[in-house]
Amino acid sequence: MSARVESRGRVTLIGGGPGAEDLLTLRAVRALAAADVVLYDRLAPHATLHELAPGAELIDVGKRPGHHAFPQEEIEALMVARAELGAHVVRLKGGDPYVLGRGGEEVLACHRAGIPVEVVPGVTSAIAVPSAAGIPLTHRGVSHLFTVVSGHAPLDDDTLRHLAGLGGTIVVLMGVNTLPSITAGLVRHGLAADLPVAIVERGFQPGQRTTISDLGGVVVAAGRARAASPAVVVIGEVVRLAHDGDLTAQGLMDRAARLAVPGS
Ligand SMILES: C[S@@+](CC[C@H](N)C(=O)[O-])C[C@H]1O[C@@H](n2cnc3c(N)ncnc32)[C@H](O)[C@@H]1O
Repeated sequence: MSARVESRGRVTLIGGGPGAEDLLTLRAVRALAAADVVLYDRLAPHATLHELAPGAELIDVGKRPGHHAFPQEEIEALMVARAELGAHVVRLKGGDPYVLGRGGEEVLACHRAGIPVEVVPGVTSAIAVPSAAGIPLTHRGVSHLFTVVSGHAPLDDDTLRHLAGLGGTIVVLMGVNTLPSITAGLVRHGLAADLPVAIVERGFQPGQRTTISDLGGVVVAAGRARAASPAVVVIGEVVRLAHDGDLTAQGLMDRAARLAVPGS
C-alpha cells in the first residue's frame, strides 16, 4: 500500500433514523464516538451531537425545503476532501441512507475517490413515522404489501396508475406539496375517494401530529391543519388503526373494530 493511501481517512455513512436520538443504532453511536468530522442533515438527530461525537468538528449541511444550504455536490466534495486529509468522516443522514436519501450517490463519490466507506443502516421514516402514529403498513387480511414513493416531484400518470392498481398501502415521503395531484390521480385511476389517508408530521419529535382524512378530503384537511414538511403520508385501509396518542385498551379495540379483519 502506498504512503498516500495509508494516510487516507474513511467515511461512515450513517442512517440516523427519524429524529429521535434513541432510535440511533448502537453501531451508529459507536461510529459517532470515533468521528473526527460529522456532516449532518436537518432531519438527522443532532441535538446532542456534541456529546455523541465529543471529539468531532460538527458541520451542519442541512437542506431546508426550497433552500439548499449545501448542494449535494458540495457535501460529497467536503466529505471526500476531509477523508483524503486522513479524517474519519461521519455522514449523518435522516432515516436510512438508501431510502430516498441519496446515500448511493455519496457511496459512489467515495468509491470514485478511493476512500473506504461503510454504510450503517438506519430506521427509515417510511416505516417508523407511520408506526409512531399507530399505523402498521401491513396487517393480516388488510394489506400485505406497501410501496414507498417520493412525492418530491409530481408523479407521472403511469406511476399513479400502477400505484392505484397494486392494492396495498402507499407511503409518500416529501408529499405535502404534491398531495393534490397525487390524491386526484389515485382517484382518477380507480381508488375510492373514501380510502383513508393519514398525514403524520414530525414523527418522534416534539409536536408530532396526525391528520386523518380520506383521498377525497385530505387536501382540504391538510390545508385546514396547515400540514407541513417533514411529514409522511399513508394511504390505505391500515390508516383505520391510527391513533393520536390514545393507547388505551378501549381505543385499540375500537380501532381494530373498524377493520373487518379475521381475528381482530
Ligand atoms: C429526503 S427524504 C429522506 C428519507 C430518509 N432517507 C428516510 O429513510 O427516512 C425526507 C423525507 O422523509 C420524511 N421524514 C423524515 N423524517 C421524518 C419525521 N421525523 N417525521 C415525518 N416525516 C419524516 C419526510 O417525508 C421528509 O420530507
